[in-house]
Amino acid sequence: MNHPLYRPRRLRKSEALRKLVRETSLAPKDLIYPLFVVQGKGVREEISSLPGQFHLSVDQLPGVGREILGLGIQGVILFGLPSRKDQRGSEAYDPEGIIQRAVRQLKQAVPELLIITDVCLCEYTDHGHCGLISNGEVDNDATLELLALSAVSHARAGADMVAPSDMMDGRVKAIRSALDAEGFQQIPILSYAAKYCSSFYGPFREAAQSAPRFGDRRSYQMDPPNWREALREVALDIQEGADILMVKPAMPYLDIIARVRQEFNHPVAAYQVSGEFAMIQAAARLGWLDGQKAMLEALVGIKRAGADFILSYAAPEAAKLLEGS
Ligand code: PBG
Repeated sequence: MNHPLYRPRRLRKSEALRKLVRETSLAPKDLIYPLFVVQGKGVREEISSLPGQFHLSVDQLPGVGREILGLGIQGVILFGLPSRKDQRGSEAYDPEGIIQRAVRQLKQAVPELLIITDVCLCEYTDHGHCGLISNGEVDNDATLELLALSAVSHARAGADMVAPSDMMDGRVKAIRSALDAEGFQQIPILSYAAKYCSSFYGPFREAAQSAPRFGDRRSYQMDPPNWREALREVALDIQEGADILMVKPAMPYLDIIARVRQEFNHPVAAYQVSGEFAMIQAAARLGWLDGQKAMLEALVGIKRAGADFILSYAAPEAAKLLEGS
């Protein structure tokens, strides 16, 4: 009789066996939760493009921070919607800006919570680009100084880590030098090292009101078909002093996560971006898939590809499901 000698199914027979040979783990500690901070008091408004996510005023942050710490999630990444936008994105580096106030309040109320801040200008500029505009183009070198100022102001407010997402050349070095000069040698940089120009950021741009008013981000964010370029970007950021390397988006770029994991020995993060989250939510709402299972599968896939941790809007929901499993 022609029967198989080795039967992979033997180790899939029971949950105990499956657990015993499971190669990848996903735990609440692997997740970072993004939050959108807005003006006002007592604001907790659902974001239409990101169901289950909220615009929160500063006073709401301690409550949310405690809640997610209780779920085993160790940190948040903060995005801010400023009171006003201008050409130079002034509120991004204003000591009284939305993020600076948010960080101070949250750090004071929930000191154990790891606070990461996104460093970029797009939410703060009236034109919606991630850098200064001169002659209709994003001016790389003039932007560096403002990014460095932003990062230092976040650190001064009490941020535990800064995460530049602007994709200007040389920003990690500029930020590292500025942090060091101001006595923040111990503040790590989580660099959005390989950040692609992706349509999966759509729901975020609505949530953060950060869509560019003209043109697009193709002159600074990476071209989706490229992988060798991602390795160059990552190598550069390491040279410039990045502590953790991020790949973004996650699911359409799992090969990039895997390659970065293989080629470098720095910690690797991945951002399951707004469109990845919204897509699963939308299909679940239509009854086309099981949203909870699909979300956990997407997250464990990102870890299997090589991410040490994941920034995800699904963090609290996933943490609750993981607790119960
Ligand atoms: C700011 C920034 C963006 C995201 C994170 N930081 C938007 C963009 O680059 O346009 C996207 C996050 C998401 O889609 O969830 N530059």
